[in-house]
Amino acid sequence: MRYFITGTAGFIGFHLARRLLQDGHDVVGFDGLTPYYNVKLKQMRHAALSQFPSFRPVIAMLEDRGAVEVAFEIAQPDIVVHLAAQAGVRYSLENPKAYLDSNVMGSWNVLELAQRANVRHLMMASTSSIYGANPDVPFREIDRTDEPLTIYAATKKAMELMAHSHSHLYKLPVTAFRFFTVYGPWGRPDMALFKFVKAMLDDEPIEIYGEGKMSRDFTYIDDLVEGIVRLSAIVPSEENRVIAEGVADSLSHQAPFRVVNIGGGQPISLLDFVETVEAALGRRAQRKMLPMQKGDVPRTFASPALLENLTGYKPGTGLATGVKAFVDWYLEARPEIESSPA
Ligand SMILES: NC(=O)c1ccc[n+]([C@@H]2O[C@H](COP(=O)([O-])OP(=O)(O)OC[C@H]3O[C@@H](n4cnc5c(N)ncnc54)[C@H](O)[C@@H]3O)[C@@H](O)[C@H]2O)c1
Repeated sequence: MRYFITGTAGFIGFHLARRLLQDGHDVVGFDGLTPYYNVKLKQMRHAALSQFPSFRPVIAMLEDRGAVEVAFEIAQPDIVVHLAAQAGVRYSLENPKAYLDSNVMGSWNVLELAQRANVRHLMMASTSSIYGANPDVPFREIDRTDEPLTIYAATKKAMELMAHSHSHLYKLPVTAFRFFTVYGPWGRPDMALFKFVKAMLDDEPIEIYGEGKMSRDFTYIDDLVEGIVRLSAIVPSEENRVIAEGVADSLSHQAPFRVVNIGGGQPISLLDFVETVEAALGRRAQRKMLPMQKGDVPRTFASPALLENLTGYKPGTGLATGVKAFVDWYLEARPEIESSPA
């Protein structure tokens, strides 16, 4: 298959592209190498993908319509996976415009060009943040998502809605995944695991928001990739509408469009998470307790029922195993990552 993946220099796009290349597919990887976090890490990821002859990188921004068009022409894709985005909840308070540019305008370009290229299946990354402070757990795909707490969540919701209308108008098959706190080797420096491990190795305190009372449904990267790969074969259509007790399919009645959570449904409190990191590193963290940050949600908790029903799979890697894999990678990669300023 020919894949066009956006965000291949990013954490998730890198892992997905590597898996697909290992499986023998062709991948065109589109990424603007944005300076939101250490660009050296992004270059290292692309360098690792470039070991595969069937990987072709395109370095450009999603907002550059002409560049996305050229990349589609090079790729001639069967399947598009749109992962590039301005990610991060907290940064959306500082620089909301970056989210509008990348996640709304950028996603719009991908959407239109995927439709013109007549692709078999367009998949897009949405987020658990879209559930806001939903009090009903676990979060199901059909739950209301009309109360986003940040511009990040609002732009991802906008992306889902634009995709739905395009899917309806042009019969473009779209799956929007909602990811839940993804972690693992090659992870993001702005996320808790990376920040905690780095601070602990440097003998600096770790910042624990919400007095440690928040919880997150952590998803190990290999589990996430497995979910995406399996879902890529399940092109939304009435023929695969799930009719099973206890499962609510989000498949639209107006379009070949479905939203699917990729998460294991096992939330972990922030304090338990810290203890797991301490065990993996064999040292104790200095804890700096801070109030909840603006825009943070108290908990995330995926219902994996739809994913499991569609694919026969749900994420299951234990936190201790996943955190250890991150630590092992980080200890080896750190000198190279830090050889260039963040
Ligand atoms: N990691 C998580 O826990 C998580 C959770 C929920 C949703 N997501 C979503 O999953 C996707 C991938 O996330 P990630 O963790 O790999 O993030 P990441 O920041 O590591 O990767 C995103 C990549 O997109 C690129 N990019 C950003 N804006 C761009 C633009 N306008 N044009 C071209 N390239 C651009 C960046 O350079 C980066 O390499 C994102 O859409 C994110 O919102 C991630």
